[in-house]
Amino acid sequence: MEYILGIESSCDDTSAAVLNGTLIMSNVIANQSVHNSFGGVVPELASRAHQQNIIPVVETAIKRAGISKEQLKAIAFTRGPGLLGSLLVGTSFAKSFAYSLNIPLIEVNHMEAHVLAHFITEENKPANIPEFPFLCLTVSGGHTQIVRIDSHFNMTIIGRTIDDASGEAFDKAAKILGLPYPGGPLVDKNAKLGNPNRFTFSKPNIPGLDYSFSGLKTSFLYTVRDLLKNDPHFLENEENMVDLCASIQHAIIDTLMKKLIMAVKETGIRNVAIAGGVSANSGLRNAMLEQKNNGWNVFIPEFQFTTDNAAMIAVAGYFKYLKSDFAGLTVAPFSRGA
Ligand code: KG4
Ligand code: ZN
Repeated sequence: MEYILGIESSCDDTSAAVLNGTLIMSNVIANQSVHNSFGGVVPELASRAHQQNIIPVVETAIKRAGISKEQLKAIAFTRGPGLLGSLLVGTSFAKSFAYSLNIPLIEVNHMEAHVLAHFITEENKPANIPEFPFLCLTVSGGHTQIVRIDSHFNMTIIGRTIDDASGEAFDKAAKILGLPYPGGPLVDKNAKLGNPNRFTFSKPNIPGLDYSFSGLKTSFLYTVRDLLKNDPHFLENEENMVDLCASIQHAIIDTLMKKLIMAVKETGIRNVAIAGGVSANSGLRNAMLEQKNNGWNVFIPEFQFTTDNAAMIAVAGYFKYLKSDFAGLTVAPFSRGA
């Protein structure tokens, strides 16, 4: 039995999970509702909430796994990237806990963990694990990358956003529409009822496999501003609201898929995955499934492994555990970088 405890605290979710090898035993996530009315994550409030949540979340994860803390073989934690104050809570806790149990500590890169979430297995569920090499479109609130994965820890970023992340584009569009943070899931929900072709926005034109979302955001802002100038009650009409959501979602997905298709053509790799918070988006999931018709082997994570969670940290930790790739107790978190 190789029980690994994973701890994730990079942004606004406090999470702990126990895996036995790659098999998930528990995955507990405490969301922080304290940010909803601020239109984004407030770092100081996030750190404080992590401090309050971390012990109960870890205790619950161990209890739900049906084991005792003495059975843990190692503790994996998110070292970065993320908000420094938030990362410090998970890092300090992981260190102290590993020290007290006298077991190895394993540092995990949050973005690598989003990709490695595809290797988590569940009891009585057929696993759909990508074969190497594969491409992964990693889309979250802080990142948008096309990554080539040749082995668990041999990852190369072949495309990335030069400004906003795609999750940020969703959240900023939602904010412009007066929807609470995080807006991505709400845009997704509304988009299902709307017409994606009613509004068009200026699309970015960036060379190669890189992305840009800041122009799209500005174009959306100006469109909504002009619509409100003509009719101050425009957004109160349900149909207008859902059409705007469907149209911006369509524009974001179109942009994401265009470069991903280009990456498949350039690399000749047809095993293609998505990961990160935005991979929960139903439109993106459908756009990926459509590519099966073009011969892609498509890998879409389960919803619980798309947004930030500690199961992905634990599985990444397990692969490092197999290599005895352990961290020292002086390790410190980092906020930026892939
Ligand atoms: O991976 P994640 O939980 O945290 C980061 O590492 O950033 O991603 C959060 C992002 C947010 O921007 C959120 O709005 C977006 O993922 N998101 C979605 C959906 N669910 C979460 N965006 C679009 N559609 C969704 N269904
Ligand atoms: Zn994330």
